[in-house]
Amino acid sequence: MNEKLTARDIIQLKKKGRKIVMITAYDYAFARLVDQVGVDIVLVGDSASMVMMGYKDTRFVTLRDMITFCKSVSRGVERALVVGDMPFMSFQVSKEEAVRNAGRLVKEGMVDAVKLEGGVEYAEVVRAIVNAGIPVVGHIGLTPQSAASTTGYRLTAKDVDDALKIVEDAKAIEEAGAFAIVAEYVTAEVAEYISKQLKIPVIGIGSGPGCDGQVLVLHDILGLYDRSPPFSKRYVDLASIVKDAISRYKSEVLEGVFPSEEHTRHMKKETFEEFLSKVRRP
Ligand code: KIV
Repeated sequence: MNEKLTARDIIQLKKKGRKIVMITAYDYAFARLVDQVGVDIVLVGDSASMVMMGYKDTRFVTLRDMITFCKSVSRGVERALVVGDMPFMSFQVSKEEAVRNAGRLVKEGMVDAVKLEGGVEYAEVVRAIVNAGIPVVGHIGLTPQSAASTTGYRLTAKDVDDALKIVEDAKAIEEAGAFAIVAEYVTAEVAEYISKQLKIPVIGIGSGPGCDGQVLVLHDILGLYDRSPPFSKRYVDLASIVKDAISRYKSEVLEGVFPSEEHTRHMKKETFEEFLSKVRRP
């Protein structure tokens, strides 16, 4: 096994000019697969609210739910850095509560780092969590927890004022001590500008090729989710493959083909005869 990656290793990848590969996972089985492929960061995203729990947006997954998803993933990952998302209202109320909840993701969810959404206005929260010894990934641009009820899911940094605000957000989060930043649905020009300005890696999602790395939601790339965003790429239609396997199983059960002799275990003939002689008959 290769050595477990740390936040420092992720910063080194940027220094070496190697793109950083991040992907989400929510359970043990998929966490093992993404780790075996050798991705750098596994994000237990609050997208779990949608892709795992079927809610319409990310605001409904709870800290307790996230802890369960995080520990399932952490048990499946040997090498990648595991980052747990701080769910809606787990870090907005106060710095103290944010530190306590980040600590729960580490102690109970066994993650290596946490991620939280927000720019300038959350810089002090980031600083407090970093000061508590927990590595933090920022998340700027489109921040789905607040966008759901305010702006909607729109491309950010389209105009100069918005672009300037996002640059300020990025600088504030870096200055507060984050070791990486996710930039979601930011115009490619501005995302590349930020990536060049910051020392820490900027990991894009829907933000063009000029970022230091990329992140996508696992269920989107596998074709397991029906409401994927336009910037995502489907690499396989796993839903069809899964449905095909289940319908073959269903047919074989209905036709009496499964289980065959190969999947059946028998009692010894004489034991069965003894059993029949002793069993109480109706
Ligand atoms: O929750 C999530 O999956 C995320 C990614 C979209 C970056 O935050």
